[in-house]
Formats: sequence, C-alpha cells, structure tokens
Amino acid sequence: MILVTGGTGNVGANVVRELLDAGERVRILSRDPRGRSFPDGVEAVPGDLARPESLPAALSGVGQAFLMSPAFAGADGFLDAAQRAGLRHVVLLSSASVLSETPGFIGEQHQRLEQAVLDSGLPWTFVRPGAFMTNDLAWVPQIGNGAVVRGVYGNAAMAPVDPRDIAAVAVRALLDRRVGEAPVLTGPQSLTQIERVRIIAEAIGRPLRFEEVPPEQYREQMLHHGMLAPVIDQLIAGLAARDGKVADISPAVEEIAGRPAFTYAQWAAHRAAAFDPALV
Ligand SMILES: NC(=O)c1ccc[n+]([C@@H]2O[C@H](COP(=O)([O-])OP(=O)(O)OC[C@H]3O[C@@H](n4cnc5c(N)ncnc54)[C@H](OP(=O)(O)O)[C@@H]3O)[C@@H](O)[C@H]2O)c1
Repeated sequence: MILVTGGTGNVGANVVRELLDAGERVRILSRDPRGRSFPDGVEAVPGDLARPESLPAALSGVGQAFLMSPAFAGADGFLDAAQRAGLRHVVLLSSASVLSETPGFIGEQHQRLEQAVLDSGLPWTFVRPGAFMTNDLAWVPQIGNGAVVRGVYGNAAMAPVDPRDIAAVAVRALLDRRVGEAPVLTGPQSLTQIERVRIIAEAIGRPLRFEEVPPEQYREQMLHHGMLAPVIDQLIAGLAARDGKVADISPAVEEIAGRPAFTYAQWAAHRAAAFDPALV
C-alpha cells in the first residue's frame, strides 16, 4: 500500500493516477474526504498533517509514502508516525530552491523539511522541482476578464515544469526504490513570462499581452490577494534575478520518467479550458 499526501493537489493527484495505472494499491490522506470524489480503487482516509494524532491510522499497513507538506507544518508528526508504522521509503516533494545560494523563505522551509526526513532515519528520495507550470494559473482571472496579464519583469526566464512530470518522477522513485536520490526537475524550455503569455494565447486562440507594473504596485496587489509578504518578496527578487537571463534545464524528467518532459505549449493546451471556460 502506498500513501499519498496532497493526493487531491497539483502533483499528488497525478501521483495517484499513475500509481493506479501501474496497478498499485493507493491510499489518499485528505483533511476531509467526505463528499469528495476520488478515482476508482483509491482508499481515501481522513487525516491532517497539522494533527499528528490523525496520522497513525492513515499510515497503518503502508509500505511507502509520497509526502508533500503544504504549510511546511506537520512533517515531524508524520515522520514520527511513519517510523512507528515501519514505513520503508518516503518520497518527499521538496524544491530546487534548497540548492540556491539565497534559498529565501520557501527554500529554508524545504531545507528544514529535508533535514527532518534525514533525521528520521527513514529511507528517502527528495524530488526537487523548480517553478510549476500551474503557477501561471494565477493569470486565469486576468485572462478570463481581458487580454492583458500584468506583472513584473516580463523578460524574467524560467523553465517551469509540468506537475504531471513531477508526479511521473515521484512514481518512478517509489516503484524503482530510488532511495538516496534527489533529482532537480525543470521543464524542457527556458521561457520568459512574455513568451508564456504568448503560448497561452495560442492555446486559447485569442490575443493576450504581458504588461509591466511597478514592483511596489505588484507587491500591494499580491498582499491584497492574501499572499504572504516574505513569499511575495522572494517571488519579486527571484524574477528580478532572472530578468534577461536564460534558465538552466535539467534532463532529469526524461532520464527518470523515460519520456520527454511536457512542453509549456502542451501544458497550456491541456489546461486551455481553465484559462477560457468557453473552450470546455
Ligand atoms: N508551486 C511551485 O512552483 C513549487 C515549486 C517547488 C516546490 N513546490 C512545493 O510543492 C508543494 C505544493 O504542491 P502542489 O502544488 O501539488 O500542492 P497543492 O495543489 O497546493 O495541494 C494541496 C494539497 O494539500 C492537501 N493539504 C493541504 N493542507 C493539508 C494538511 N494540513 N494536511 C494534509 N493535507 C493537506 C490538500 O488536500 P485536502 O484538501 O484533500 O486535504 C491538497 O491536496 C509545496 O510544498 C510547495 O512548496 C512548489
């Protein structure tokens, strides 16, 4: 039995689907599974990483686990319960930012998470993705209401990775027992924000453009949307540092998943209906 935390999220839902396709028995940990639909054959159990007392039952009879920690809280409780349950392998969804010279708020949280897994003594794999393609779904409200995406540093380049590829690597890590490995994952192309908006425009079949706003105005908007100040500051600093540069590409998705990583155009076509409900 493999336990998937975050099994209703961007990466976890794809981990679940791939494990089921491979014929594995899958259990999803969800804070409130009642009234939600899960893929056929999945066992969904209630559990909350922030409530350690809810975890032993979820880990009972489990051999391996995919662990993601959304609020970076609760990993210690999970790891304690996992040790007691005799877990044989944990695949942690970490972040490439752990390797950065300036890891910032997010990188430091992931460094702590990795250290907690190391300290637990459990056999581990760390999956370290860079920015997810799904982060650009933050543009949905602007694209739904018009033709302009406003942001900072439009020429900042990244190589965003499709969560389906992160999941594919995590699943290979689980099924091939890739213990002690820590692959860094990126998408297959370095793309600026301006280029990504253009690719989404092609996917939905109508013109869009990127428009620069001053960083201070952008910061205020993000605060208004509820994003944490240190996360916004790291986001803006990260974009400034990438402005006009080409992003590094990792070959790890293709090497581990055994197929090419999804391009941004493939991802945008896959999620076109999210950007434009008229395409459903
Ligand atoms: N976005 C990026 O660019 C990026 C880059 C590198 C690393 N990461 C890391 O990737 C992770 C996010 O992955 P994702 O996008 O797949 O996540 P996501 O889509 O935000 O998924 C959130 C999931 O977490 C579950 N969840 C939330 N709070 C929980 C709790 N207290 N206990 C148990 N489950 C809880 C939810 O399930 P229920 O509602 O069913 O409980 C949901 O399935 C984070 O650790 C992030 O730092 C992100």
